[in-house]
Amino acid sequence: MTAPHLWRHARLATFAPGSPWGWIEDGTVITEGDRITWVGADADLLALASAHRQPAAEFDLQGALVTPGLVDAHTHLVYGGDRAAEFEQRLQGATYEEIARAGGGIRATVAATRAASDEQLFASAAKRARILMAEGVTTIEIKSGYGLAEAHEARCLAVARRLARELPLEVRTTSLAAHALPPEYAGRPDDYIDAAITWLAGQRAAGLVDAVDAFCDTIGFTPAQTERVFVEARRLNLPVKLHAEQLSDQDGAALAARYGALSCDHLEHLSPRGIAAMQAAGTVAVLLPGAYYFLRDTTLPPVAALRAAGVPMAIATDHNPGSSPALSLVLMLNMACTLFRLTPEEAWRGVTVHAARALGLADRGRLAAGLRADFVVWDAEHPRELAYRFGHNPCRRRVFAGAEE
Ligand code: NIG
Ligand code: FE
Repeated sequence: MTAPHLWRHARLATFAPGSPWGWIEDGTVITEGDRITWVGADADLLALASAHRQPAAEFDLQGALVTPGLVDAHTHLVYGGDRAAEFEQRLQGATYEEIARAGGGIRATVAATRAASDEQLFASAAKRARILMAEGVTTIEIKSGYGLAEAHEARCLAVARRLARELPLEVRTTSLAAHALPPEYAGRPDDYIDAAITWLAGQRAAGLVDAVDAFCDTIGFTPAQTERVFVEARRLNLPVKLHAEQLSDQDGAALAARYGALSCDHLEHLSPRGIAAMQAAGTVAVLLPGAYYFLRDTTLPPVAALRAAGVPMAIATDHNPGSSPALSLVLMLNMACTLFRLTPEEAWRGVTVHAARALGLADRGRLAAGLRADFVVWDAEHPRELAYRFGHNPCRRRVFAGAEE
């Protein structure tokens, strides 16, 4: 077994339940290999030391803030091209829906993604992943959904898997073939869904997919079409998630909750009925302030009602070329507070413990013995500082699976 590493004299936001921030003012984290083996007050370390083996390394963090590694629970990181020209169109008055209905939007990115080589897709996604990682992200979810043909969807998921092999980063993949209607199925959405659900078994057999998602909206798919995707996911024992109630209320959250969804995401138009269904199913609400901001949305997600119902809230970048080209999860902390009125602590739990839960992961998102040794040393004394400042990167050291890069 690896000798322990001691990370001493840190201000720890452990996000353990039951106390604000899970705060430890002068704390120590002990790691062995890729696991945390002890977290507590530095003063308690002496008692422990006699029972403990000689450390391999000891770091004095001199009061710096340490938090769990950040988890970005909703991204579309693998795609070709960009949509900067579409941004200009929107600034001149065209709406996101109008551009999508005219064949632009997601479908423009589908064309660019299909035209890109595997190597180009990997290089561009790796560049984006490194930007997120430089701000302390250690786990990221990546959706397909810009291939929209069997081989192209598989290629994008394979690129996501390759990122995890080549970078110090954990990747969870989500199949989002039901993202938009590809041009070859124009006018035949049910035929497309018929085809797309047959791809899932192969993706699962090839180890390419951890969860299944769909875009249930007026420019996406109907609840009935979404449910057919969920039926196949359930048959294959894959957990589901949903892009729900982003542009309109389709009652998608209640549908997803009936299938035990890990999360429902966006949720600007979520109804009280949807909230109750999510609460009963233990589904996480993934809020995406980057998309709300960038689409200049004016309908806020019902944060106060989600809070009152005890629905856990996560915050993610939703990084994608159309509705949220954001590459800073730290900035999302600020946006979640200023735009959505989350408290700084809620926003932080949203990029750590609740984000992990949105991915079905119980082994990260907090600092506690037995969990993965993924954590960040920040140039700050308290996590509220990171929700307050914006446009800066205070990440000092990033430890992934017990190791610094
Ligand atoms: O999460 N809502 C659908 N999907 C993405 C946007 C995709 C795009 O515009 O390319 C989202 O916002
Ligand atoms: Fe999304």
